[in-house]
Amino acid sequence: MIFATKAQRRLLAAAAVAVMATAAVAQTPAQAPAAPPAAPPADFAICSACHESTPKAGPSLGPNLFGVGGRKAGGVADYDYSPALKAYGATWNADNLAAFILDPGKAVPGNKMDYPGASDAASAKAIADYLMTLKG
Ligand code: HEC
Repeated sequence: MIFATKAQRRLLAAAAVAVMATAAVAQTPAQAPAAPPAAPPADFAICSACHESTPKAGPSLGPNLFGVGGRKAGGVADYDYSPALKAYGATWNADNLAAFILDPGKAVPGNKMDYPGASDAASAKAIADYLMTLKG
């Protein structure tokens, strides 16, 4: 097809842009993942030295942290917890995780996690919020 006038060519170009824009909009919901997986905060790197955090991993030096949010403290069957953590009795949520990460020895006195605590409350909260996203 040959378009003779400038006006016709401009019209064609505008139509092509409109079609592309419509296609892009229409494709967005189908292509975008439902919820992009949260990236771990930089401060989580040190936790990974002692903790696995993927679904099928077993315990390492510490218990697997996948699914820790909503789990009873000391609740991983194949991990040998300290009596202190087993007796803690809480179910992990964003708040008590942040408190534990900020100061493990204060939150659960006598636990055996050899980590002094996060640098500040904001860092502890970011790590706790990230842990809450680790669910199947
Ligand atoms: C030096 C190794 C080490 C490091 C570093 C470490 N942990 Fe731990 N963690 C442990 C051990 C060991 C336990 C088990 C404690 C117990 O039984 O008293 C534990 C227990 C836990 C628990 C309790 C889990 C449950 O199943 O009840 C959480 C939550 C946790 N750690 C989170 C973290 C986070 C988050 C970090 C990083 C900010 C971290 N840990 C850093 C070794 C470590």
